[in-house]
Amino acid sequence: MMAPRLILLLLLPLLHLLGPALAESPDHYAVRFAPPGAVANADAAQEYLDPTYPIPPPPPMAPTCTLPVLSYSFADTYGAAPATAFYAPPPGCPAPWSQVVLSFSAEISGDQYDRVAAVWLDGAELLRTTTAEPTPEGIRWTVRKDVTRYSALLRSPPRGVLSVMLENLVNDVFTGLYNVTVSLEFHGIPPYFSDARAGAGGARSDPAKPTLPESYFQAPADMILPISEATGDCGYWFRIQNSSDSRSRLVTVPLSAYRAVLELFVSPHSNDEFWYSNPPDLYIRKNNLTTGRGNAAYREVVVTVDRRFAGSFVPFPVIYTGGINPLYWQPVSALGAFDLPTYDIELTPFLGLLVDKKAHEIGISVVDGIAEWLVDANLHLWLDPSWVEVEAKLARYEAPRLSISRRYSSQLLNGSFSIKAKRKSFFSGWVTCSLGNLTTEVETEVEAKSLVQFTNDGRNKTVQLKVEQETEVVVRSEKRNKMGKLKTEAEYPLCFYMDTEHAGEDGMSVMKGSLSHTLDVETKVECGSFEKEVHLVDKQTADGWMLVRDHDVINGSATTSQKYSYSDDQWEYQRSIDAVDGMVLSDNVSEKYSGQDDDLQATASACLPGRSCDGTGSAAERKVDIAAM
Ligand SMILES: *[C@@H]1O[C@H](CO)[C@@H](O)[C@H](O)[C@H]1NC(C)=O
Ligand SMILES: *[C@@H]1O[C@H](CO)[C@@H](O)[C@H](O)[C@H]1NC(C)=O
Ligand SMILES: *[C@@H]1O[C@H](CO)[C@@H](O)[C@H](O)[C@H]1NC(C)=O
Ligand SMILES: *[C@@H]1O[C@H](CO)[C@@H](O)[C@H](O)[C@H]1NC(C)=O
Ligand SMILES: *[C@@H]1O[C@H](CO)[C@@H](O)[C@H](O)[C@H]1NC(C)=O
Ligand SMILES: *[C@@H]1O[C@H](CO)[C@@H](O)[C@H](O)[C@H]1NC(C)=O
Ligand SMILES: *[C@@H]1O[C@H](CO)[C@@H](O)[C@H](O)[C@H]1NC(C)=O
Ligand SMILES: *[C@@H]1O[C@H](CO)[C@@H](O)[C@H](O)[C@H]1NC(C)=O
Repeated sequence: MMAPRLILLLLLPLLHLLGPALAESPDHYAVRFAPPGAVANADAAQEYLDPTYPIPPPPPMAPTCTLPVLSYSFADTYGAAPATAFYAPPPGCPAPWSQVVLSFSAEISGDQYDRVAAVWLDGAELLRTTTAEPTPEGIRWTVRKDVTRYSALLRSPPRGVLSVMLENLVNDVFTGLYNVTVSLEFHGIPPYFSDARAGAGGARSDPAKPTLPESYFQAPADMILPISEATGDCGYWFRIQNSSDSRSRLVTVPLSAYRAVLELFVSPHSNDEFWYSNPPDLYIRKNNLTTGRGNAAYREVVVTVDRRFAGSFVPFPVIYTGGINPLYWQPVSALGAFDLPTYDIELTPFLGLLVDKKAHEIGISVVDGIAEWLVDANLHLWLDPSWVEVEAKLARYEAPRLSISRRYSSQLLNGSFSIKAKRKSFFSGWVTCSLGNLTTEVETEVEAKSLVQFTNDGRNKTVQLKVEQETEVVVRSEKRNKMGKLKTEAEYPLCFYMDTEHAGEDGMSVMKGSLSHTLDVETKVECGSFEKEVHLVDKQTADGWMLVRDHDVINGSATTSQKYSYSDDQWEYQRSIDAVDGMVLSDNVSEKYSGQDDDLQATASACLPGRSCDGTGSAAERKVDIAAM
């Protein structure tokens, strides 16, 4: 592990001396000039943001404790072990909790590249994040993540070691230190609530008319097992180097497990940071290019159970704040950059292979991946409190190979590279537990289309990616009646171009481009009479130019617009932000409550701070202008 890291350390400063190559993927830059927006706020560190749905407040009268866990200044931490702190649940707010929120705050000034970071508790990841690039005047931001689903781990951590990895390089040029604090906020369950929250382990159903508890798909797991590096000396993430590099961990699943979900954290770096825009190797070779950013533009993360395919996804293309044009991401970060999406794979049909007192191998790999991918996972397990041993069997297993077609054409530095990929799988398995003999069917379809084009002798690049993923989990009774369903449909189109206008001998170039990307996720849950539908659409468009010398942005201008919208059966929430040259021009929030009269209780608990909730239950709408300037 140490040797390649040392080489990287030596290579990094050298790579920065090379100018951006013409006919390659987009690149990664450090902003080395103050945008007008930063100068306008020179008296205070500017707040950077990722506008998403604000975490709803805890129910009224819930006991609350805030626990500062770690505070650390990440200076020259490249190759160092993660920063650690001791964690124990707060005695004043014992479990069970209605909500737990993790806050990750950072402050930095000077010049610095963006970095990747993660927070783990005893090797189980809680947050994957990337940092914003600072201005000399200083910036700060806070990521708040609902971590209630890790309650089992937070309640009784095996060792109580919270680690934060953030590899930073500091020298005469890149001076910024990332000062990070991590805290956890615990909200208990108010007294009037405690009966209502029996959870999956609570009241059992009548065997004649089996039903699932309402919380079946939503209650936090009873146990979380990390699928990550056993020692965290270099971080707990696996560092995947190529497509045959499968990393795994052996786990022994308790005999009372009746549901299993694997949650994956992934982030691509180095040669695969912009995987969605990589040309094929043949193009790189034919043109004698020196770039390592190849292997074309399709990636898929694959999960195996005892070396058998058990699920996969095409990762959402998160753009880090130094990527493509860093001026796009000031002060609004790219979608997901502060809180990278995680991916759930339902492994319940595989319990038949896992529940037998023996150790089993959960593996992770990246189709077509090149160095390097930081990946790890948490295995969430739900345990039956009244059954010592479940019986389970994998019944149907249909995992056809990935179907992929590629069409490449190129003439010297001009090229057009198109890929279409599709994978469909179906698994079912039954498990007998105190809820009955439950059969879980999991049907997944992943489809991706990618087009990378270089024109104008490689000076103009256009990238289009469209990914669609659909997963349906159906739970059936022994008589094959549908007891519950969880359906997720995700779509993420990304489209951008970047034209290099002059690439002078002096290593200076002017790059112009525009970008649009969207994360669209629809989730439907049905459990007996309980139904919930959530739809979120997060869309950004950005446009601008930059003057680049080597990997430094020394002048430029950019505009970014973001529209975030969330809706469920009761709430509609929208936030729109326009930013220009490092400054927020307008930031509008609108929300609408459309619950029924008999949902007044829900009104009170769903009301967000600083917002009006119309107690009559009729539709209430209001616009808040947070920062109209
Ligand atoms: C970060 O922490 C260091 C060391 O405590 C301190 O010198 C520096 O001023 C801090 N930087 C910011 C931006 O707060
Ligand atoms: C893939 O990566 C692994 C781990 O670094 C290495 O051992 C293996 O030789 C690599 N395989 C190829 C084909 O490069
Ligand atoms: C690449 O290098 C080879 C060998 O030096 C040379 O023959 C070929 O013309 C070069 N190709 C291009 C596109 O420059
Ligand atoms: C590459 O495409 C441009 C137009 O985008 C054209 O002017 C140029 O001649 C092409 N170069 C080659 C080598 O075909
Ligand atoms: C390349 O980009 C420049 C600058 O945006 C534009 O003027 C030109 O038309 C583009 N050429 C091609 C062939 O796309
Ligand atoms: C559970 O149900 C499945 C399908 O309904 C059936 O094949 C299996 O034998 C049942 N298991 C037990 C232990 O009854
Ligand atoms: C940046 O570019 C703008 C527009 O071309 C120009 O007015 C300004 O002087 C430039 N700033 C610097 C620092 O070169
Ligand atoms: C915010 O609202 C104002 C006033 O209605 C409008 O002028 C502005 O364009 C809106 N901004 C965004 C980003 O939607």
